[in-house]
Amino acid sequence: MLPKRRRARGACPGGAAAASAPAPVRFPDVVIYLVEPRMGRSRRAFLTRLALSKGFRVLDACSSEVTHVVMEQTSAEEAKGWQECRAAAVPPGCPRPALLDIGWFTESMAAGRPVPVEPRHRLEVAEPEEEPPRLGRVPAYACQRPTPLPHHNTALSEALETLAEAAGFEGSEGRLLSFRRAASVLRALPRPVTAHSQLQGLPHFGEHSSRVVQELLEHGVCEEVERVRSSERFRTMKLFTQIFGVGVRTADRWYQEGLRTLDDLRQQPRRLTAQQRAGLQYHQDLSTPVQRPEAEALQHLVEAAVGQALPGATVTLTGGFRRGKLLGHDVDFLISHPKEGREAGLLPRVMHHLQSQGLVLYHQHQPSCFGAPERLARPSRSMDAFERSLCIFRLLQPPGAALGGPAKAGPAWKAVRVDLVVAPSSQFPFALLGWTGSELFERELRRFSRKEKGLWLSSHGLFDPEQGTFISAASEEDIFRRLGLRYLPPEQRNA
Ligand code: UTP
Ligand code: MN
Repeated sequence: MLPKRRRARGACPGGAAAASAPAPVRFPDVVIYLVEPRMGRSRRAFLTRLALSKGFRVLDACSSEVTHVVMEQTSAEEAKGWQECRAAAVPPGCPRPALLDIGWFTESMAAGRPVPVEPRHRLEVAEPEEEPPRLGRVPAYACQRPTPLPHHNTALSEALETLAEAAGFEGSEGRLLSFRRAASVLRALPRPVTAHSQLQGLPHFGEHSSRVVQELLEHGVCEEVERVRSSERFRTMKLFTQIFGVGVRTADRWYQEGLRTLDDLRQQPRRLTAQQRAGLQYHQDLSTPVQRPEAEALQHLVEAAVGQALPGATVTLTGGFRRGKLLGHDVDFLISHPKEGREAGLLPRVMHHLQSQGLVLYHQHQPSCFGAPERLARPSRSMDAFERSLCIFRLLQPPGAALGGPAKAGPAWKAVRVDLVVAPSSQFPFALLGWTGSELFERELRRFSRKEKGLWLSSHGLFDPEQGTFISAASEEDIFRRLGLRYLPPEQRNA
């Protein structure tokens, strides 16, 4: 704050001319506005007459024409406030006038002409802080906004994802969703968040998520997130739940019993399911991300087997790879046939073909479990009812890409998790939409359907509970349209 300047009452030169009539404008490029508060009305009137008599232009009201704003006994802080008021009144784009102390005015009067503005004349107004760019309106449901894969807020969203994951490990579904939704909003933003104030008005940013972002912006780290990440509980739960066939409840039970490592588990093989044993056996490979070329190689293998088992049947890559991901934890395929019913009995034959080529390290077949149709549509977190095979494939590695190491005899190969799912053609668009993900995108889409449209969406269909009927759809686009949503291609569903 600048020291207030003494009023220069009586020191005004040329006081005698103050009463004389306005002279013709001699300095058309200089337009003065005298700010009345502090100066006082009568002194302002006096100074105005004085300036007019010397051929200066002085305006009674501040307008966009004004080039020199003169204040008396005004601090820089007050001047800034005044400037903001003016900014609201004057159309944007108009050049800003100089904000000057009375010193400039008295010197100009004494000189009989406008003296050049020097830094000492200026009220040192700190430039108004550059406002962080606005982030725009973000719709509340993830299915109402595009979410691309590369985005602008990776560190922030990863921190919130960690807290979501940790909440999931404690069975706090509500907190898991809050953090996950906030993280997803960050992924949809058109630019990086640089100031905490930008979060205002964003959906799903409660007190907790906002605080985490603020801490990250101010300090680069969030204490809570770091504490969680390094905790034994989080690390162990993460290790256990990443094993094929292990969910949060099993992992938690093991943790409560004091188990901490994979070796602890391996020492108790009789407590493990066949799936978990396979998961442990191939753990090293399965915890190495699947790469896109590997997913494509698997697609060719599955297509060949499906083609042999039933000509005309189709194979579609779904899951994260369909959304454009370059890495995944598994590879998901949807198998169908354009003629409804032809897909029956197909999957065992496909598996047989794959097994005979030595491509299958493990598989678990689950027959379809269709019950009453509307039960299939009822939104629930439980799995869909499609026939499927949960597999571990033995994928030969191209030369030079050996991951298996010398311990594995024969050509190098890698164990890869693959899900094969069979959908009848009438349900195919729903199955495709449901299996493309992301998981949060699917949850949001179903929640949107139920809450905003009163319709139950699942991987089997779209059910109208009031009419008691299914709404058919020929494509994913059709489903979006029926829900009144703008179509989002898979690459924009990375919520
Ligand atoms: P994934 O768990 O494979 O996730 O489920 P992802 O998006 O492909 O990511 P990665 O594999 O970790 O890289 C794919 C989609 O299939 C749905 C999920 O909701 C997700 O949207 N899905 C998965 C089901 O509908 N049912 C299931 O039993 C499993
Ligand atoms: Mn997947």
